[in-house]
Amino acid sequence: MTKSILILGACGQIGTELTMALRAKYGQENVVASDIREGSDTIMQSGPFELLDATNYEAIEDVVMHYEIEEVYLMAAMLSATAEKFPMRAWDLNMNSLFNVLNLAKEKKIDKIFWPSSIAVFGPNTPKENTPQHTLMEPSTVYGISKQSGERWCEYYHNKFGVDVRSVRYPGLISWKTLPGGGTTDYAVEIFHEALKVNSYTCFLQEGTRLPMMFMDDAIRATISIMEANPEKLTIRSSYNLAAMSFTPEAVAASIKEQIKEFEISYSPDFRQQIADSWPSSIDDSSSREDWGWQHEFDLERTTHEMLSNLKN
Ligand SMILES: NC(=O)c1ccc[n+]([C@@H]2O[C@H](COP(=O)([O-])OP(=O)(O)OC[C@H]3O[C@@H](n4cnc5c(N)ncnc54)[C@H](O)[C@@H]3O)[C@@H](O)[C@H]2O)c1
Repeated sequence: MTKSILILGACGQIGTELTMALRAKYGQENVVASDIREGSDTIMQSGPFELLDATNYEAIEDVVMHYEIEEVYLMAAMLSATAEKFPMRAWDLNMNSLFNVLNLAKEKKIDKIFWPSSIAVFGPNTPKENTPQHTLMEPSTVYGISKQSGERWCEYYHNKFGVDVRSVRYPGLISWKTLPGGGTTDYAVEIFHEALKVNSYTCFLQEGTRLPMMFMDDAIRATISIMEANPEKLTIRSSYNLAAMSFTPEAVAASIKEQIKEFEISYSPDFRQQIADSWPSSIDDSSSREDWGWQHEFDLERTTHEMLSNLKN
């Protein structure tokens, strides 16, 4: 079955791989990538691309009409670490881009939306281990506040206007094709690059900081599979908890050491430590598993193997 899809923020860490996966599945011509900047050659040369600002409603509407778009994946956002530096810009981008796509769906100009939330919706008062789907939240970062507000608006638009919006709370994502864009879990990507380059890494989070993480292939599979799920099975229209593994910096270091004996890690925590300390260590994602059959495939060992072997080439 083909459908026409628009991705906003397609040139980032997730958007790049999502665009390629959707083009492979639904046909290159049917998946329009867009961003405020140009992306990798792979993105630019494998299908249609539009320079598009996700905060500009009229500009998005024009592209939606032109390509007769049915589904929008909104990946444009300012991430946790950068948002602490530019709070008002983060709020403006993260909220207004979401309102734009929600309002397009409310106006029946598109049929379906994917919008990602994050484990950053949780805060220092949330239970840290096996964090439940429904629990005390109270996020303490600009980014987390924008994601929690976004979740409330998604549920509201679904209940009030019947908007078909679907969402997962991604954990930290690990990928080798594109570098991460200013989050608190970026160390878990940088560490593999540095291990191959200089056999050592200075981590900006301290030893013992255990956070929920996921390999990119799992994240892309989750995204496409919740979008394909039978709407009647989806009991949560704010955002689903989603998990694969949880680890500390020293655990990644140990798994790298199995392949690169000389590798050494040291620690120099910065402002991102406080953000990490406010987030859960592990996530209970049983609602995703029950409602739409989520199953992860990559653990730490397999992730390390994929990262090192692909970055070496
Ligand atoms: N990467 C992670 O670990 C992670 C974890 C949890 C949630 N998320 C969420 O997933 C989504 C995508 O994250 P990512 O890691 O790919 O981010 P990223 O920073 O790598 O990519 C974001 C993209 O949005 C683009 N962009 C910025 N402003 C824009 C604008 N005004 N209009 C159009 N495009 C604009 C950027 O150029 C960039 O290509 C975000 O909503 C993020 O909050 C990511």
